Amino acid sequence: MISVAIDGPAGAGKSTLSRKLASHFGFIYVDTGAMYRAVGLKFSRLGIDAELNCDIEKILADTSVDIRFVGNEQRVFLDGEDVSDEIRTPEISMMASAVSAKPPVRAFLLNTQRNLAKNSDCLMDGRDIGTVVLPNATVKIYLTASAEDRAMRRYKELCEKGQTVEYKDVFDDMVKRDYNDMHRDIAPLKQADDAIVADTTGLEFEQSFALLIELIEKGIKANENN
Ligand code: DC
Repeated sequence: MISVAIDGPAGAGKSTLSRKLASHFGFIYVDTGAMYRAVGLKFSRLGIDAELNCDIEKILADTSVDIRFVGNEQRVFLDGEDVSDEIRTPEISMMASAVSAKPPVRAFLLNTQRNLAKNSDCLMDGRDIGTVVLPNATVKIYLTASAEDRAMRRYKELCEKGQTVEYKDVFDDMVKRDYNDMHRDIAPLKQADDAIVADTTGLEFEQSFALLIELIEKGIKANENN
């Protein structure tokens, strides 16, 4: 099976690019961030804030997070309910980052993520795909861009969805979330030693897309020749 791991900080365009790249290559797309968001939503619905003063394992024992595919598109189900749209808010972004620092939450999602890559060619994005989830991935890419570019992209995305947000809040949240994701003890966001860096600062979407196609094709060929 071919597996492409794409990791990087918030707002680097991972989800949008990955979805389109998976479709281009005919691979399934697995957005692992959506799975952490679904867990974050569960805690939020229980009235728990990002401090997570609660019995995490007890809540997880009564939680299911499933991924289902409609065509090549991933939908995320929390306790049987499709929450794919509801998880895309700034509040749930922060909750996802908070729950993702907790070892029981990571253990809870790891097997599901690995199993998805076992049976199909797949493109999986997240923070620890190349380092922890799929250490033997065929191609590993670390996708990044300047914090300003990433915050502006995320700001535009939220505005297009009709959410009322300030650019400065989006920027501050993003910097805080990056810090949390890079400094947690377990599976922190970092570039895998064998990952190729793709910096999309100043690039339009189509340029980033073309760059990634080239990197993935090269990576798959290099793997075939080994
Ligand atoms: O990619 P995203 O913004 O949807 O991810 C939401 C949060 O989930 C992010 O702040 C960190 C966490 N996450 C993670 O810890 N590991 C992953 N593989 C994917 C996401």
